[in-house]
Amino acid sequence: MGALLLRCALLALAAGLVAARGGGGGGAGAAGRLSPNYYRHSCPRVERIVADVVAAKQRANPSTAAGTLRLFFHDCFVGGCDASVLVSPLSADRSPERAAEINLSLPGDSFDVVARAKVALEVACPGTVSCADILALAARDLVGILGGPRFPVALGRRDARRSDARDVEGNLPRTNMSARAMAVLFARKGFTPRELVALAGAHTVGFSHCGEFAHRLYSFRSADGYDPSLNPAFARALQSSCANYRSDPTISIFNDIMTPGKFDEVYFKNLPRGLGLLASDAALWEYPATRVFVQRYADNRTAFFEDFAAAMQKLGAVGVKTGRQGVVRRHCDVL
Ligand code: HEM
Ligand SMILES: *[C@@H]1O[C@H](CO)[C@@H](O)[C@H](O)[C@H]1NC(C)=O
Ligand SMILES: *[C@@H]1O[C@H](CO)[C@@H](O)[C@H](O)[C@H]1NC(C)=O
Ligand SMILES: *[C@@H]1O[C@H](CO)[C@@H](O)[C@H](O)[C@H]1NC(C)=O
Repeated sequence: MGALLLRCALLALAAGLVAARGGGGGGAGAAGRLSPNYYRHSCPRVERIVADVVAAKQRANPSTAAGTLRLFFHDCFVGGCDASVLVSPLSADRSPERAAEINLSLPGDSFDVVARAKVALEVACPGTVSCADILALAARDLVGILGGPRFPVALGRRDARRSDARDVEGNLPRTNMSARAMAVLFARKGFTPRELVALAGAHTVGFSHCGEFAHRLYSFRSADGYDPSLNPAFARALQSSCANYRSDPTISIFNDIMTPGKFDEVYFKNLPRGLGLLASDAALWEYPATRVFVQRYADNRTAFFEDFAAAMQKLGAVGVKTGRQGVVRRHCDVL
């Protein structure tokens, strides 16, 4: 609650700153392609069931959406979209992906929304719908609920049989990466700089903990002690909001300080004004190959929504397992 209040206070301050294949479902064998109709016969109501659970969860806890979107990204970038990120450290014999991410504080509500949808689906069509498909559908639905674009999600992903903390290293972007380094990482996953910028637009929602950007605020090598690429009033507000972050590591700040709960293009409008929260956000504006897309999306929400929708569909196909390459887990947090 304290953290939430701080975020609200900062928001008020910032506001003043600027004026496989279809049919089978059980589908043995036939690997390879995903299809929007994958569960047409085996679980025809899958999209409705997920949508209902997701909407109820988001109403009960509005931070679900951003957390789930981030969870989906992390799942897909580490060994493909196979729900390996969902495996609980309590259930695995070896340290799973999620253990390596403890400091990244993947939010509990995003795991919970998938678990709830899974329970509903196990009643409606037992042993049929993979956790990886549920996460892809939930992320898509939640983007729509926040006002973002809607897009189709191809289905038929299988769940992983393994989840290993050691697989995380080197596969996720870090805030201390240069834009060039991020572009290299995304290229390795098959994404262009344009798609990198579109996907980074997910930071139009949600929040970050002070520890992720504190190096920009205190003892930065500059006259005022903060990163001079930050808007000065924003920097001072952050300095004060985050002042106690070491004793209270839960203090967090909205990624898009202007319209934090709305999926829109304002994140991109913030970057040229020094209102990007993470160093990695600011870096997208400093690097010519990404700056051009930041500018385009800042000027044109439609362009952002179209590219984001396309990039999300591509993200949902990264490293997917189909047919016998994977399984349908009964419980998303247990291998
Ligand atoms: C481009 C490089 C990226 C970096 C360096 C990065 C890093 C981060 C960091 C450090 C946080 C704060 C975590 C915390 O303190 O709890 C965060 C939050 C978030 N990230 Fe990223 N991220 C990147 C790209 C993406 C992409 C591609 C997506 C999704 C498509 C995404 C979605 C999110 C969301 C929605 C949040 C807010 C989470 C919440 O409110 O619970 N990020 N990111
Ligand atoms: C998490 O952070 C703590 C304290 O900063 C550190 O000691 C620990 O090694 C970190 N764990 C991982 C997995 O990075
Ligand atoms: C970036 O931060 C990670 C930890 O999050 C650290 O392991 C790495 O060495 C840092 N890289 C640079 C270039 O500072
Ligand atoms: C905005 O982007 C859309 C989609 O790319 C494009 O059709 C439209 O012409 C653009 N609008 C402006 C004003 O440039």
